Amino acid sequence: MRLAVLGGSGRIGQYILASALESGHQVSALARRPEALAAAGGLTVIRGDATDRHAVADLVADADAVLSALGPRGVKTPDLLATAGSNIVAGMSKAGVRRLICVSAAGAFIQADPDAGMLVKLILPRVLAKPFADVLQMEAIVAASDLDWTTVRATRLVNSRPVGRYRVRPDYPPPSGGKIARADVAHFMAACLTEGNWVRGRLALAY
Ligand SMILES: NC(=O)c1ccc[n+]([C@@H]2O[C@H](COP(=O)([O-])OP(=O)(O)OC[C@H]3O[C@@H](n4cnc5c(N)ncnc54)[C@H](OP(=O)(O)O)[C@@H]3O)[C@@H](O)[C@H]2O)c1
Repeated sequence: MRLAVLGGSGRIGQYILASALESGHQVSALARRPEALAAAGGLTVIRGDATDRHAVADLVADADAVLSALGPRGVKTPDLLATAGSNIVAGMSKAGVRRLICVSAAGAFIQADPDAGMLVKLILPRVLAKPFADVLQMEAIVAASDLDWTTVRATRLVNSRPVGRYRVRPDYPPPSGGKIARADVAHFMAACLTEGNWVRGRLALAY
């Protein structure tokens, strides 16, 4: 497959790239700093910013599927996910590319989570109001599209080694599921792409 990847220089993104290349896909990755990505057979790195709609449109134009592991980093762009999400949806829709799998955050939906405690429901959305607002807006943009989208709502991200086994639940984390390794988020996204499941689905991922 020809895959377009955003956030490939990130901590989830590095695993997405490695897995995609290992599986023999042709990968185009958008990066603000192309030098952050090691050269590899099958990988084309395109310099650009995800907030630039032209750069994103060019990236996705020839893809069979698009994977995004974007996250705000460095100079904070409070609406990075929403702006990039809008660019991705517009670019894919224009080019007729259908499959989109992107990283989202379970925490942003905690207020409606039937299993979350009252205290955390009160505190978390206040502490993380801006990033959560960005996540909510990004998901709304993606869900309003006609694309075959999947939003992967990660629980707290950790850098531990991948296990390759985790629990997946629609909308909210599985009971007592509080964390997931970045490598396992990438593992799930690769499986989702290959198996073609969770289309037009939102799911949360945790151990
Ligand atoms: N932290 C948590 O516990 C938690 C929990 C649930 C969900 N999440 C979600 O996980 C995601 C972050 O995952 P992560 O830890 O793998 O992120 P990360 O390591 O911070 O990587 C973020 C990636 O986004 C890229 N990026 C940022 N702004 C960009 C721009 N304007 N144009 C192009 N690329 C840009 C970065 O590129 P550069 O190399 O150029 O900076 C990098 O590749 C976020 O969407 C967040 O909502 C986090």
